[in-house]
Amino acid sequence: MIKKDTKDQIFETARVEEVVGEFVNLKKRGKDYLGLCPFHNEKTPSFSVSPSKGIYKCFGCGKSGNSVTFLMEHEHYSYPEALHYLADKYNIEIEEEVETDEQKQAESEKESLFNLTEFASKYYIDQLFNTEKGKAIGLTYFKQRGFTEKTIKKFQLGYSPDEWDAFTRYALKSGYKLDYLEKAGFTIRNEHKQYDRFRNRVMFPIHSLTGRILGFGGRILSTDKKKPKYVNSPESEIYNKSKILYGLFFAKRKIIDEDNCFLVEGYTDVISLHQAGIENVVASSGTSLTEDQIRLIRRYTKNITILFDGDEAGLKASFRGIDMILEKGMHVNIVMYPPGEDPDSYAREHRPAEVREFIKNNSRNFILYKANLLLKESEGDPVKKASLAKELVNSVALIPNQIDRLAYIKQCSSLLDMPEQALVSEMNKVTRKRFKQQFRKEEAEDIPEPETAEAEQQEHYDPLDIKPQEKELIRLLLQYGNEDLIFEQEDQYGRKQEHSVKLAAFVLNDLRADEYEFTHDKCKSIYQVFIQHNDKGTLPNDREFMNNDDEELAKFAIDMVSSPYALSENWEKNRIFVNSERDHLKEAVISALFALKARKIEQMIKENQQKISRANNENEIIELMEIHKHLKAKSVEVNNKLGRIITR
Ligand code: CTP
Ligand code: MN
Repeated sequence: MIKKDTKDQIFETARVEEVVGEFVNLKKRGKDYLGLCPFHNEKTPSFSVSPSKGIYKCFGCGKSGNSVTFLMEHEHYSYPEALHYLADKYNIEIEEEVETDEQKQAESEKESLFNLTEFASKYYIDQLFNTEKGKAIGLTYFKQRGFTEKTIKKFQLGYSPDEWDAFTRYALKSGYKLDYLEKAGFTIRNEHKQYDRFRNRVMFPIHSLTGRILGFGGRILSTDKKKPKYVNSPESEIYNKSKILYGLFFAKRKIIDEDNCFLVEGYTDVISLHQAGIENVVASSGTSLTEDQIRLIRRYTKNITILFDGDEAGLKASFRGIDMILEKGMHVNIVMYPPGEDPDSYAREHRPAEVREFIKNNSRNFILYKANLLLKESEGDPVKKASLAKELVNSVALIPNQIDRLAYIKQCSSLLDMPEQALVSEMNKVTRKRFKQQFRKEEAEDIPEPETAEAEQQEHYDPLDIKPQEKELIRLLLQYGNEDLIFEQEDQYGRKQEHSVKLAAFVLNDLRADEYEFTHDKCKSIYQVFIQHNDKGTLPNDREFMNNDDEELAKFAIDMVSSPYALSENWEKNRIFVNSERDHLKEAVISALFALKARKIEQMIKENQQKISRANNENEIIELMEIHKHLKAKSVEVNNKLGRIITR
């Protein structure tokens, strides 16, 4: 085990942009780096690497992580392998740690379980080949099913005798502890007796990726409907059903070679296909694939072909499970077997070449297959057809690769005879939802659904109105424009120097630097007069506004100066310096400036969000999401400076 100190050092030293940069061409963009995502196909870069956070994230497929997870994902390294790679790269000496007693015990417990499964396997094989009953019952059964001796030996098939506790007794006599026999599931113990889990069954050992035996499936030989067809090892320290695939140990090499993995339901399907020369095949053992199992396959290929032996109703029931495979970026094909046939029976009844032909000729892209299937059902029913389009688009939207997605949309569009654009915009709705889920929750909540026309019309009160902030600044200008603000500055010798700036000059310089444009008409007029004066180094006097020819403007200026409390409904709440405003002018003016900026940024965020919810193209969405992030960061910055959270 690598010491925690060493691990910490590796994590601290590794620079994510350097680690990722060895595999991905990265370009600097601001503080971050951007490149084409190595985990899905894309033409415009949405893979972002943040040196400051030490992480990468793809806004296209959602993959994210740090230096170590990158190596694990991209190079298929194990965790320790990734650490060793980085230690090498950064010349960090790895210090190993002596295992604690608990760790040692856990390890040795696993070893004991593995020893036991190995021992059991030898026993079942011996029973199959070397006992009268084993030969008469077990071996005969396998031969009847068409398994050759070579196949039986390759898969280490065996037989458990028809006795209550033959294996338990034999194992105990050989020195194995009852405790482990129970843990590994070979022995079942109740108040009265202890007996074998596997009795009178043919035995299928389940192998780990490296070929060690994790557990067993035992098939019944009679047709007794009351007994379960298969009895399986229970979950244990070494056997975790949801994390393994039957046959993967024998298939992995071929899966890589063929760049495709066949998925079947059962042990016998795997074995029969192997015998027919098709070795890139694994079984889910009768359930739909778990995420872990999908990930296992993905280590070897992105292509999965489901050999399906159920009827159409059964296939429809597994749609959701298949969507999960699509979501992991895998390409899914499907082969439907004729009624009453399964991969095992078909392989038994046909020559290997015919089996290959059959699979090749009947392999259909899953999404198009789904489209056809649903289409058949909705013939002549436009309402059904619309919901079918939704259903389809749901599947398509899960595919991380944009090019794949658009290709599917094209095909679905012609299949359904629906405009491509309609499907695309439906898909974008789903994509947006997906983005929302990927984004941090707090940010995601800000992104509105596209608004309906009514909703837009109903909106009278605008919480993002910036006019109150503009008025407040103009009020300060009018009332205190001529006041001096005192700032402290250090001179070149580090001595504090005070210098004063007229409030008006301070405000105008700040707003001009931001090229701020007033939206409130009268504020704008007043501001422009101030600007003209400022350029000449003078200040307008009160009368210029209050006696203005423009009556409305005059009235406005008078209101401003005489009734500060009427400025906005929130005035009391937001006003911090009510009593001695003149004593705290600097704070008042700075906070007014920040309040204006904060509101402006919020407006921009809102506008951007509207664009996001209307955007019809994924690149645009990604770009707008970037802007969103940027504005959010700015907003946090300004609000921090403002020293208060904007209350909305
Ligand atoms: N299975 C199970 N328990 C059962 C039935 C099935 O664990 N009672 C699992 C087994 O892993 C089995 C797979 O589901 O391999 C598929 O079931 P099924 O098609 O019924 O079994 P096959 O392996 O095809 O066996 P056979 O061809 O002998 O019917
Ligand atoms: Mn079967």
